[in-house]
Amino acid sequence: QPRVFSGVQPTGNLHLGNYLGAIVNFVALQDSHDCIYCVVDMHAITVWQDPAELSRQIREVTAAFVAAGIDPVKHIVFNQSQVSAHAELAWVFNCVARIGWMNRMTQFKDKAGKDKENASLGLLAYPSLMAADILAYKATHVPVGEDQKQHLELTRDIAQKFNNDYAGSIAGHGYGDAFFPLTEPLITGPATRIMSLRDGTKKMSKSDPSDYSRINLTDDSDQIAQKIRKAKTDADALPGETEGLKGRPEADNLVGIYAALAGLSKQAVLDQFGGQQFSAFKPALAELAVQKLGPIGADMRRLMADPGHIDQILANGAIRADAIARPILDGVKDVVGFIRRN
Ligand code: TYM
Repeated sequence: QPRVFSGVQPTGNLHLGNYLGAIVNFVALQDSHDCIYCVVDMHAITVWQDPAELSRQIREVTAAFVAAGIDPVKHIVFNQSQVSAHAELAWVFNCVARIGWMNRMTQFKDKAGKDKENASLGLLAYPSLMAADILAYKATHVPVGEDQKQHLELTRDIAQKFNNDYAGSIAGHGYGDAFFPLTEPLITGPATRIMSLRDGTKKMSKSDPSDYSRINLTDDSDQIAQKIRKAKTDADALPGETEGLKGRPEADNLVGIYAALAGLSKQAVLDQFGGQQFSAFKPALAELAVQKLGPIGADMRRLMADPGHIDQILANGAIRADAIARPILDGVKDVVGFIRRN
């Protein structure tokens, strides 16, 4: 049976990249799949987080999920630290995965920077916890942006190695020839990698020091319009064909954003705007962005005014997530050979 899982870190500003690369797809999958959407607070503390701010951000990501259209009653929304199966399974995976695999992860290299020895041990083991997030539910499909592709390949490697290392025990306990599924990444749509508005070669990110590099989900209409007006572009008109976007990263990015917000292909956007200058395209893009994002930001502010209600959503989701993960974790313990209470 297909099951969708994905996670978002409660660190810094949720932006248009998170929305178009991930959250829009979370919403779309609800009609066809059972979905579990997690605010990964344990991943967040792999780099230092101010405690009060972390709590606020956990609620803000939850508010964004709900404001964007995720239904926390039909599906499951919760924060990772409330379901201990994540930490327990991550330990087993820490013992299955190899240090070399972790050292090769580009996100680790980027985040650890030059001083690798001084990065937290959690930052190195980050992908192992991510594999545990997914496999604690035996999730089959994981919607993410392009930047998470390498982590999902590692998740498959961990599942495969667990299935191989424990093959005899897995069969012996009646689980057939594989305990964990090999999860499929879902990296779909025209916006799998949204770039910075200041530099078309850098991805839009929560941690970019320039607020003009990204559109935050909490930005108001004026901020959204101003950031698009100031976005970096080249001097040429928009091309008529997608081929013509090659070598023009800023133009490509803005056309991709328009396409994703409008639910069109990039070619359909160029059919409409090809031959026009950015002075004509940018106002149209700003209007569309305000129209799509404005209501989400407003709804987030409304939800954030009642933190008790958000905490209730998370607690309810955690209980239901735990009920799915618990028997799977028990199975892992049996397969590994641990003794457990009934
Ligand atoms: P995070 O919190 O950095 O980002 C959340 C989601 O947003 C996507 N994303 C983007 N998509 C397009 N363009 C961008 N510029 C952009 N920036 C971010 C990310 O790909 C992601 O889908 N490791 C994950 C969180 C995680 C997770 C998981 C995801 C933890 N456990 C299990 C899936 C399954 C992360 O740091 O995402």
